[in-house]
Amino acid sequence: MSFSNVYEDPDRAASYARLEFPGTYYLAYRDLPEILGDGAGRLALDFGCGTGRSTRFIAGLGFDVVGVDIATEMLEQARQIDPGGDYRLALDGDLTRLGSERFDVVVAVFTFDNIPGLDRKVSILEQLAERLEAKGRIVILVSSPDIYTNEWSSFTTSAFPENRDAKSGDLVRIVMRDVEDGRAVEDVVCTDEDYRTVFADAGLRVVDVAQPLGRDDEPFDWISEIEIAAWTIYALEK
Ligand SMILES: C[S@@+](CC[C@H](N)C(=O)[O-])C[C@H]1O[C@@H](n2cnc3c(N)ncnc32)[C@H](O)[C@@H]1O
Repeated sequence: MSFSNVYEDPDRAASYARLEFPGTYYLAYRDLPEILGDGAGRLALDFGCGTGRSTRFIAGLGFDVVGVDIATEMLEQARQIDPGGDYRLALDGDLTRLGSERFDVVVAVFTFDNIPGLDRKVSILEQLAERLEAKGRIVILVSSPDIYTNEWSSFTTSAFPENRDAKSGDLVRIVMRDVEDGRAVEDVVCTDEDYRTVFADAGLRVVDVAQPLGRDDEPFDWISEIEIAAWTIYALEK
């Protein structure tokens, strides 16, 4: 399978930079403050920070945060929006630019949807785990396989019926409704079972799992969100 990171593209990056927390994205972020806790006096690494939306969110919880990403196009946007932020380039799994820094929390929001191969996921998680303080936690938020076969407030997959036949590790397509760039995003689908194998192989144990569902009283036009979870959030410790 040939997979390229769709975010290494200036137009996509500019479009993504205008995205905040609409619809289904709201559900990705809604429960993170409770999961991450008070950031005062704590250092966080935002792995796959993109245009800095997740980094700014984590900073808003009081953390000192370093954002890293593999896509220079996304980092340029992050630095423009947040000139005071700390955004660094991390070539695939190479975190040497972080020096010897260690983090209380490592967060990866949507990043693992764009990392192909179980071995690569393991190797990246091992490197992230090395960056953790002794009692630190890795929180990774990923797309559930269901996101690629249903309709959502923020996404459509109706043009990609072949997603239904995708096995864990296969490439899938999805279109974001909240951005101007209507081109499909290519992700790699990964089952809960495979993620758990990856975590175990990286020496990490799952201490908490959340699958946020939409609620009737929320100000969005939910489609599948009340019945089916679009996202899975894993909290991991060494
Ligand atoms: C969907 S964006 C999410 C950005 C941000 N976390 C947010 O919530 O808005 C996923 C990001 O992961 C980055 N990414 C993918 N593979 C990566 C890798 N191996 N190392 C670092 N970043 C990576 C992509 O370049 C992209 O910016």
